[in-house]
Amino acid sequence: MIQTIRGFRDILPEETPMWQKIETIAAEIFRNFGFQEIRIPIMEKTELFARSIGEATDIVEKEMYTFPDRKGDKLTLRPEATASIVRSYIQHKMYAADPVRKFYTVGPMFRRERPQKGRYRQFYQIDAEVFGIASPYIDAQLIQILNELFKRLGLSGLKAHINSLGCPECRPGFQKALLEFLSARKDVLCDNCLRRMEKNPLRTLDCKVPACRKALEGAPTTLNHLCPDCSTHFDTVQSTLKAQNVEFVVDNTLVRGLDYYSRTAFEILTTALGAQSAVAGGGRYDALVQELGGPQIPAIGFAIGFDRLVHIVEQLEQEKPKDGPDLFLVALGDKAMENCHLWLSQLNLSGLKAEMDYSGKSLKSLMKRADKRNARNVLIVGDEEIKTDALVLRNMETRTQTTISMDDPVAEITKLISNI
Ligand code: HAM
Repeated sequence: MIQTIRGFRDILPEETPMWQKIETIAAEIFRNFGFQEIRIPIMEKTELFARSIGEATDIVEKEMYTFPDRKGDKLTLRPEATASIVRSYIQHKMYAADPVRKFYTVGPMFRRERPQKGRYRQFYQIDAEVFGIASPYIDAQLIQILNELFKRLGLSGLKAHINSLGCPECRPGFQKALLEFLSARKDVLCDNCLRRMEKNPLRTLDCKVPACRKALEGAPTTLNHLCPDCSTHFDTVQSTLKAQNVEFVVDNTLVRGLDYYSRTAFEILTTALGAQSAVAGGGRYDALVQELGGPQIPAIGFAIGFDRLVHIVEQLEQEKPKDGPDLFLVALGDKAMENCHLWLSQLNLSGLKAEMDYSGKSLKSLMKRADKRNARNVLIVGDEEIKTDALVLRNMETRTQTTISMDDPVAEITKLISNI
């Protein structure tokens, strides 16, 4: 029997609804933020990836599916989408009328990595790229978009790790410090690191060999070498994320596996799939458009590991009780607790599966509890809602809200929920 190639897999009909759901939510968010869909070829000239991702990266050195076609042209199955989108942006002079363009694409990528759960040789990415905006606000916006998508999928606890990789102005100072550090540890570094030290010292920082990892502890960081402009840029990214309530940690060990980055780089890490892995990654690449033959136009983007995201959401769904309540009452404050308790009894007696929590915890933790219980609806009752006669009934599946009056909430809720 002929089977799939190792690291390649079928996505079966039972699985596709989840893929479609995520794609629909992502497309909606992209539309709201002004992104247009672009579709790019699955194969490109090898040179495109070698020049953009970087000759000394794992991807280019050992993971690309590269082969000559019948005429001997060197072709590669795309390992990522950024290089192709940049090529397309330049080839079609999309910058001519207005350099500011925002694109997204969804599709398969190919990397010959060692397969394991969440790591495949054909995998899918949801990719977004923004051209023509140098402002740090856009860096924060992309991280906010990721955060929003994860939130709408019910994922909590995913935190963005962010770093700044500097620019051509500050990179030389950092590289010099790094080279000095590496030179003093030459006897313990692996052959790969020694070779990369010559080609691109930054690449030693993502070596996976345990002895190298140990030797690299305390290595110089880009953050300590940022020029004033990069420093201000990074500060604004952070203050904007804070102002937008997006959780993040500054991680000065994050270097990304591709060479084209400058300034802001980020990853969303998770342990949901076993060992820590990234469910999304991205960053700024202000020099790439010019390096590939276009004008000097800044750009930034990210890619989500679609397969990984599906695994995480599926895992979460499995952990949830199948038979969650129709309604979860969130009582905030003593008065609310008393009211909710009385309504709860009536709702239960009227045949509705309703639950509440008596711990008096915060709105955030009660909403988490409602989500974990897989409640279909949540009624939010706080002193403020009682005072203004506007209780909030939220449908957890559609994420829509209805206002309920205090006149006869039980009747109103019963009617609304039975109609859903
Ligand atoms: P990347 O970090 O190489 O970035 O990949 C992005 C995401 O794709 C990863 O965080 C991971 O979730 C997923 N991924 C990568 N390799 C595999 C694999 N073998 N199996 C399953 N999932 C995988 C890029 O590709 C950049 N082009 C992102 C970007 C866009 N930067 C700027 N714009």
